[in-house]
Amino acid sequence: MQTVVITGGTDGLGKGLALHYLRQGARVIAVGSTPAKGEALLAEAAAFSEGGRAVFLRCDLTSVRAARELVTTIEGSCPSVDKLVLCAQRYRLFGPRTVTAEGFEHSFALGYLSRYVLGHGLRPALESAPRPVIMNVGTPGIPLGRIHWDDPQLAARYSGTRATLQSFRANDLLGVAYGAVHPETPVRYVGYNPGVVATGMPEHLPQPLRTLTKASFALLAASVAKAVTPMVRLLEEPPGEPFTAYRTTRRLPLKGASFDRDAALRLHRLTARATDPARWPPAAGPAT
Ligand SMILES: NC(=O)c1ccc[n+]([C@@H]2O[C@H](COP(=O)([O-])OP(=O)(O)OC[C@H]3O[C@@H](n4cnc5c(N)ncnc54)[C@H](OP(=O)(O)O)[C@@H]3O)[C@@H](O)[C@H]2O)c1
Repeated sequence: MQTVVITGGTDGLGKGLALHYLRQGARVIAVGSTPAKGEALLAEAAAFSEGGRAVFLRCDLTSVRAARELVTTIEGSCPSVDKLVLCAQRYRLFGPRTVTAEGFEHSFALGYLSRYVLGHGLRPALESAPRPVIMNVGTPGIPLGRIHWDDPQLAARYSGTRATLQSFRANDLLGVAYGAVHPETPVRYVGYNPGVVATGMPEHLPQPLRTLTKASFALLAASVAKAVTPMVRLLEEPPGEPFTAYRTTRRLPLKGASFDRDAALRLHRLTARATDPARWPPAAGPAT
């Protein structure tokens, strides 16, 4: 039986994929921070997934420590992970800079660091599977934003948009670096931009952006059911190269600053230091 781990697996695209893989007979571990959403997923899945194949793990992925504990919990409960899908996200485009208890700017922590920790942390479990793949769901192909090397936590010049765009670009580089630092790995890393999809994402935006986004979704957005079809195709048949990037069905050229190898390795080194296990030792107690 395949094991599919999906962060943000309780809502939107992640939930769409979770239900798809449960219907296909896979074991699905859906991660989210809200217990009620996890319970709703399990209730929906109960109709067609017997034998405890649907698992919800509550975890606040703004925390490096919690992400590391999640890796330990997953490793302890499954011998291998076939697919890791990274969807957890919460945009903070407006408002003051927020710093996590561990001292990281919110978008950097949730949008990027959690994906770094899970992708690298679950590598041994992924490498135990016959055809492992990581899909990092974000916005490759959008040429906006950059890494602020002199101040990645944006302590001096914060704006929500700048932080969000930086986390997007950091994920492009994360995919590039993954294959570069693990040249022998069989894990295929796919950066994936789903296009505009009607999910619950606007619910967390402030007004009037919430209403505007919902209106544009009503006109332009694909349904979750439609959007997950090409994602599943890639998850089932990932390309042979270590890293590829897609916008819906279109493969993107790995050119420009977003996919620069030197920048990717620089960010990898910076992130490895920031998330050093010696700095964030696991606390007692597993993720629940
Ligand atoms: N929808 C689009 O049009 C679109 C376009 C381009 C890219 N994307 C990308 O696609 C991915 C999925 O987006 P979506 O629209 O499906 O999002 P969504 O419907 O808003 O779902 C977000 C998921 O992330 C989880 N999450 C949020 N904060 C979390 C935290 N602190 N810890 C753990 N989980 C957390 C949520 O669960 P809880 O609320 O329980 O925490 C939820 O399951 C994102 O990476 C997004 O950037 C989406």
